[in-house]
Amino acid sequence: MHIFKTSDEAAKYAYELIEKGIREGQIRTLGLATGGTPLKLYAYMRHAGLDVSNVTTVNLDEYVGLKDTDEHSYRYYMEKELFSHMNFKQSYLPDGTAEDLEEECARYERILKTHPVDLQVLGIGKNGHIGFNEPGTSFDSRTHIVELTESTREANRRFFEREEDVPDRALSMGIASIMDAKKIVLLAFGKSKAEAVRSMIKGPVDEACPASVLQMHPNVVVVADEDAASLLE
Ligand code: F6R
Repeated sequence: MHIFKTSDEAAKYAYELIEKGIREGQIRTLGLATGGTPLKLYAYMRHAGLDVSNVTTVNLDEYVGLKDTDEHSYRYYMEKELFSHMNFKQSYLPDGTAEDLEEECARYERILKTHPVDLQVLGIGKNGHIGFNEPGTSFDSRTHIVELTESTREANRRFFEREEDVPDRALSMGIASIMDAKKIVLLAFGKSKAEAVRSMIKGPVDEACPASVLQMHPNVVVVADEDAASLLE
């Protein structure tokens, strides 16, 4: 666990870790997340002029029903924050507009099999979710369709104009899919994440806190600011 005074220093540390992995050829597939947390990390990445032409990316999740061109879709976010500025070999996200969503989940799992994740970037929800895997999600889950809880829709409400515009479903890598990554870097910034960080690290390994599963992963780095780490005593 690495704790920094500010989220900016923390993001820089995560960037350096990723930059080294890419430069030394250990990261051929990079797992990415969206949301507010990785924005500073992505700013470091896009300004660095890194050659990523040998690197494939896979994202954790995508809303159901939003087109690529919809500014709320995670594909749009990734293009804007990262992909359009860099030369990744290929970039995969689940396709939330697929006609057959079950088949799309199976297709995404096949992509993950062909491109095993070397390093996965994660954020954490206030309720301990990772990806869109809400409390109670099976630790055995693979890429699946998720009904979003009120608390997650509420947290994501800030990105949408009207409440009814927040999608009620998403496609997400499952917990088992995430655990397959060789290395995981979980970023947590701000007081609002302190309780989730405490349960993840100090709490029992229990499906009530999805992130607690990471206690069983052999290679996790938690990168937090002081606020997010404030309940670790
Ligand atoms: C995003 C994702 C989510 C977020 C989490 C934290 O792809 O999978 O698990 O990482 O909801 O969101 P922020 O960073 O906005 O606080």
